[in-house]
Amino acid sequence: MSKTIDSTLQEDRTFNPAIEFTKNARINAEKLAELRQAAAQDHEGFWGNLAKSELSWHKPFSKLCDSSNAPHYTWFEDGEINVSYNCIDRHLETHGNKTAIIFEGEPGDVKKLTYQQLYTETCQFANALKAQGIQKGDRVVIYMPMIPEAVIAMQACARIGAIHSVVFGGFSAESLKDRIEDAGAKMLITADGGNRGGKIVELKKATDKALAEGCPSINSVIVYQRTAHPITMQPGRDIWWHDAIEGQATDCTPAWVSSEHPLFLLYTSGSTGKPKGVQHSSGGYLLNAAVTMQWVFDIHESDIFFCTADVGWITGHTYVTYGPLANAATIVMYEGGPVFPDAGRFWKLCQDHQITIFYTAPTAIRALMKTGDDFPNSYDLSSIRLLGTVGEPINPEAWMWYHRTIGKEKCPIVDTWWQTETGAHMLSPIPGAMATKPGSCTLALPGIDAEIVDTSGDPITAPNKGGSLVIKKPWPSMIRTIWGDDARYQKTYWGEFDNRYYVAGDNARRDKDGYFWIMGRTDDVLNVSGHRLGTMEIESALVANPKVAEAAVVGRPDELKGEAIFAYVVLKGQRPEGGIDETLTLELRNWVAEQIGPIAKPDDMRFADNLPKTRSGKIMRRLLRTIAKGEEITSDTSTLENESILDQLQGKA
Ligand code: WT7
Repeated sequence: MSKTIDSTLQEDRTFNPAIEFTKNARINAEKLAELRQAAAQDHEGFWGNLAKSELSWHKPFSKLCDSSNAPHYTWFEDGEINVSYNCIDRHLETHGNKTAIIFEGEPGDVKKLTYQQLYTETCQFANALKAQGIQKGDRVVIYMPMIPEAVIAMQACARIGAIHSVVFGGFSAESLKDRIEDAGAKMLITADGGNRGGKIVELKKATDKALAEGCPSINSVIVYQRTAHPITMQPGRDIWWHDAIEGQATDCTPAWVSSEHPLFLLYTSGSTGKPKGVQHSSGGYLLNAAVTMQWVFDIHESDIFFCTADVGWITGHTYVTYGPLANAATIVMYEGGPVFPDAGRFWKLCQDHQITIFYTAPTAIRALMKTGDDFPNSYDLSSIRLLGTVGEPINPEAWMWYHRTIGKEKCPIVDTWWQTETGAHMLSPIPGAMATKPGSCTLALPGIDAEIVDTSGDPITAPNKGGSLVIKKPWPSMIRTIWGDDARYQKTYWGEFDNRYYVAGDNARRDKDGYFWIMGRTDDVLNVSGHRLGTMEIESALVANPKVAEAAVVGRPDELKGEAIFAYVVLKGQRPEGGIDETLTLELRNWVAEQIGPIAKPDDMRFADNLPKTRSGKIMRRLLRTIAKGEEITSDTSTLENESILDQLQGKA
């Protein structure tokens, strides 16, 4: 058996950064070479020097990386720091009147906060948290719309050393409950609702449902009034945000914590079981967040930075909340849907707020590309100087559209590969220093030691041979553990090659220039619209329905979403005639939306009497994937108990 994977995609176009861009870039080719050399000579010292120059420490660290308890690594452990101090306080003297946040609500309301105002609001809210009994180390769940108060809530937690866990507002009550319970959170911060797609997202209603069904650890709920539509407040448990901050002091001394103190948990899908609470540190996390803003986004004093991600994902943590603010940058936050009231909304935002750096996901780019060039062409996009993508491989066609229609062929595109677990960018172009290629995330950043290995863990040196993407040396913003399940941490990320490397779970190849090309996940995790979904989670949700006996979920390529969700379902009762039942399909789709959230709704559903299994009872997923793609079955199916189900699975009977 071959130990590598063959690749068929070949893309030979390369794009050099425009002279104009290179001239003013923070990092040019020469500077990049210096950084790479410094990192190669002294990996830990390289990060240590950056930690000293880029972050403000209350107590300096003497230790760099401690590997004595590998695969648990610590960075700068004896240093004391506060993340909120680094994001706000230290800028006040020189940037107090600079705009930190430009917020636009979906209805069009605009609000701006200076660093001074952000300081005051964060301190007041931090004091409100303390008044509610929140202490250092307590977990606080944030379930909010994309409004400045979400950032304020995160910063306030960081300020007092509480550990936040942001749950994406698109997740259901059920998912919210699971995450609250897993984290043992004491408090929930939410809003009455948020605006999305012209509708109200019922955050408070979902909160009430989650808390009614469990979550005994929650003592109080703070509710921000955003939509002012009718909701119910439970006396003794729920308190309005405006009441909670009433009379609170506008200063709050930051809690100085160890660099290793957990800053946050963020739940993400894995191939098996429930979502994992990825635990991040304070100092190390902030360091990579801060320097990648400089290296990858080339952040300058005058930039207006717009990352379209929700704070419920890691992108919204690192490139909405922490990275930009650590650099005293100005961010744009947008509350609503990308196509509301029409597909020109992002471009209107770029024009109206003079956005200079725009960062979004390939799925959004493809969806907007589909709506044609008239939308972008009717807005003035001349302020934009740099574009970025994240979340999944970008197909060269979408890259070229982004380059031409949005970037007007003058803006570099940074295709940034990273993960919830890596905390910050790992593989990405440095825009003023390197040529880009459509569809490639190019090279590892300085201080990041990435490699592709075969199934034995040996490096693959031949060009265009695919294998498993690994990171060989620890880096400051790496995942520390999985909350409450350290064994799963060790097994998932280090188990495969004997703790030798961090295993990303992606397949990739390198071309003749050494550029990385991501080929997709190695495990049973789908990438739907740039978000990870475990097939197991969707299967569990389906099986939880009283009508369903068994379910198998696989992905199939989808032009817009990257991957679409294909569900094979075995019912407890009769299989519907011809395997099709539209009413039941709708019912089960809505059921999954309720259990997990609308993003997990299966796109296709097929009912069969059985699932294809091996003799040992394992579902033959490869076969199901082939069928989902509509491809011819060439693998051996003789081990199937009941070969006639193949026709059912293929929709032929
Ligand atoms: C997975 C991580 C990191 C923020 C968004 C998703 C895929 C991410 C790229 C890229 C190709 C990418 C990988 C990775 N991915 N960025 N530029 N090119 N694939 O975070 O939910 O933790 O998912 O997203 O498969 O493992 P996440």
